[in-house]
Amino acid sequence: MTARPSDEQVMLASTRAELHGVVSAARARGGRVALVPTMGALHEGHASLMRTARSALGADDLLVTSVFVNPLQFAPGEDLDRYPRTLDADLAVCAVEGVDVVFAPAVDEVYPGGDPHVTVDPGPLATLLEGAVRPGHFRGVLTVVAKLFGLVQPDLAVFGQKDYQQFTLVRRMVADLCLPIEVVGGETVREDDGLALSSRNRFLSAEERTQALALSAALRAAAEAGPSGATAVREAGLSVLVAADLQPDYFEVTSPGLGAPPDEGEGRVLVAAKVGTTRLIDNVAVTLGRS
Ligand code: PAF
Repeated sequence: MTARPSDEQVMLASTRAELHGVVSAARARGGRVALVPTMGALHEGHASLMRTARSALGADDLLVTSVFVNPLQFAPGEDLDRYPRTLDADLAVCAVEGVDVVFAPAVDEVYPGGDPHVTVDPGPLATLLEGAVRPGHFRGVLTVVAKLFGLVQPDLAVFGQKDYQQFTLVRRMVADLCLPIEVVGGETVREDDGLALSSRNRFLSAEERTQALALSAALRAAAEAGPSGATAVREAGLSVLVAADLQPDYFEVTSPGLGAPPDEGEGRVLVAAKVGTTRLIDNVAVTLGRS
């Protein structure tokens, strides 16, 4: 276990044994444990998740952030190799946000025997949207989240709602498998011009960044069309994407649980598109019909 010289409060655990030691010590003093799982390249969106977790905890409690780029959720040809790894900067963010332990294991520490034989079947919701474009992605996500839950044994885990389908599936896994963990969703954090923060934004050229603004603009247009119903919502959003010369992988209106949208009531609009070589996702809540 290494303490950062610049901030004695953040510990870096890279093995299961180190993590177990610090979690057990917190449990022994009666503390609760919260987990913010990440793949690193931390930004203000992650920092806000850490603040959400910290604010739910007391002085004897333990806030763990994991930093692990999980190979199991990347298909061959996706951006596993170019995914940014910025551990020193990540530790600095965690120090500012009052994280107690950063769990940053090597791949072998998480998957000592290579790919696991037993994985989490994410079920039918994982065949839609992101899952339709990235088959196997959510099997990888839920498997590593289940492993992190097993290793950290948190009382509380905070996930960003920018990855809305992931958030929905994690909640579903926790409910369906009776895991004793409270899953909290953090709001999407945006730049002033609407771009949702993402670790992948750093790959956008200035021109691509301007084009990428069409995703959040499309979602705003879609949400404004809410009173006219789901079809109008979809048309309003798609016309913004077409005008920006973007062809989305999907632009869909759903119920909050990712089923068919209701005629009236709460819904969700979700979009994914490649801008240059960088794939971005975003979503917003929408109120449909007259309710
Ligand atoms: O959202 C992410 O960063 C990842 O999918 C997660 C939840 C940390 C699992 O690898």
